[in-house]
Order: sequence, then structure tokens, then C-alpha cells
Amino acid sequence: MPVPLRPADLASRKLAGLPITVLTAWDSLSGALVAEAGADAVLVGDSLAMTVLGHATTLPVTLEEMLHHTRATGRGLASVCSPGQEPLLICDLPFLSYQCSADAAVAAAGRVLKETPAAAVKLEGAEPETLAVIDRLVRSGIPVMGHIGLTPQSVHQLGYRRQGNDDVSREKLRRQALALQVAGCFALVLEHVPPELGADLQRTLALPVIGIGAGEACDGQVRVTADLLGLTSRQPPFSPPLLPGRALALEALRSWVGSWPQPAQAPPAAPATRPATPAAPHC
Ligand code: KIV
Repeated sequence: MPVPLRPADLASRKLAGLPITVLTAWDSLSGALVAEAGADAVLVGDSLAMTVLGHATTLPVTLEEMLHHTRATGRGLASVCSPGQEPLLICDLPFLSYQCSADAAVAAAGRVLKETPAAAVKLEGAEPETLAVIDRLVRSGIPVMGHIGLTPQSVHQLGYRRQGNDDVSREKLRRQALALQVAGCFALVLEHVPPELGADLQRTLALPVIGIGAGEACDGQVRVTADLLGLTSRQPPFSPPLLPGRALALEALRSWVGSWPQPAQAPPAAPATRPATPAAPHC
């Protein structure tokens, strides 16, 4: 029986030159889909704030909501995998659940590990305060995946623009990646940076580099499943859809809706003696 992937195994996958695939999920339906598709790891990303909950950014999603969606995703994985064979489940720590203090971060990440089947958390950034938080989490026994480059929780500072476009910012990203490795992250998400930087970090770090919009040369790739399936209205330029999922679903649903009313049927005979009751209000 194959042994399920644990956070620390990703580094051996890198050493062995085996690619790592990570897909996001947000509920039991999407969890079952990505597990059945064979993803090595499943990320309940805070992108669910935008793709599923209808927010304009990832900032509003709460820890309670992340826990709720991670539990649902875990049930989806369990529904299609033998016990103990589920892909590695990772949960994003939402905005302000880890930035205020290391204590708050341990409490938030501790709830993820205690109250959901996730075995690791992901958080954004590599400023000195964030590195201190990661160090504390790792020393508390909580595996952490880092995330630099385009970091959507900093949208009001960085926008959704590609990062690492000049020598200074590329050098900063190199230093941040190394600092995250030293702080003890088990892997690093690198989002929307030049492909040469993705290749460079893949070569120079022992840490597995999981890219999205960071070129093909990374150790692994992560994608937002709703983007891959073409379900979102805001498609990131670096993550093209594999199929026009929204258009296909709309076509099918419109054809079902348009197939009604069915051919007229004879109305049931009204009882002769009962007075007509007023119609119930409809919403
Ligand atoms: O929230 C998310 O889905 C992510 C991926 C883009 C890696 O962080």
C-alpha cells in the first residue's frame, strides 16, 4: 500500500526529481475531484474568499470559515481514498490570524491541526515578524508552507502585479526564500514571478519550490482548481483554464431550464365542495 505524503516528504520528492502537484479545493465535491485526479497535496487556499464566497479580495475570509471549508474538503478526500491514503491536506491561515503575534498564530494554526484533517498550514510573506512567527510555529510542531512573490493578502500594497521584475526585487525574493528555508518551511509557494527566478530558486534551495505563474522549472506546481476548470470570472493571466467549465455548465443548465414547462397536463379535478384557499406567498 503506498504511504501517504507527509510535509517532510516533499524535500525527498525534490531530491528524487519527482514533480509535486498541488490543487486547491474548498468543499467535499472539489476535494473528492482533486483527490481522485491524483494531486499529491490539496490546499484549502484563502482564494476561496474570491472564487467561492464572492469577496473582492482574500482579506475578509475568517479562520472559522477556513476551518469549516477544510473539514468539508477533508470529508471529500476521505470519500474517495482508503483511510490513511488521502493526499496531504494544507490550510491557508487567513489574513490577521497570524500577523498580530506568534501566540495568535500558534492558536490559529493549532485550531487547524486540532479541528480539521489538515497536516500543515500555509502563510504569506517573509518579513522579519513573519519569519519569527514561522519559527515559533515550526518549533511548536506545526508544518508551515511559505508563500512569496504575488501575495494576495498584501493586495493593497502590491496589487496583483507580477513581482521580481527588477534586480532589486529579485534579490529581495532570493533573500526571502532563503530565510523561509532557514526558518523551517517544508515548501515554498512562488507566485507570479519571472520564470528565470523560479528556475534559479529551484536550483539553489533545498526547499521544494511550488510555482504558480513562476515557470515550468519549479519542483512542483500549484493551481487554483476553479481557474483550471474555467469556472471563475476573474482568470489570472498566468493560470489559463483547461476547459471552458463555466460556459459548458451554463449551456447545460440553460438547456434544462429551457426544457420547461413540459407539455401541458390535465389539471387535477378540484374538489367540488371546498372553498378556494388563498395562494401561499412565494419568495
Ligand atoms: O489561496 C490560494 O489558493 C493560494 C494559491 C494561489 C497558491 O494561495
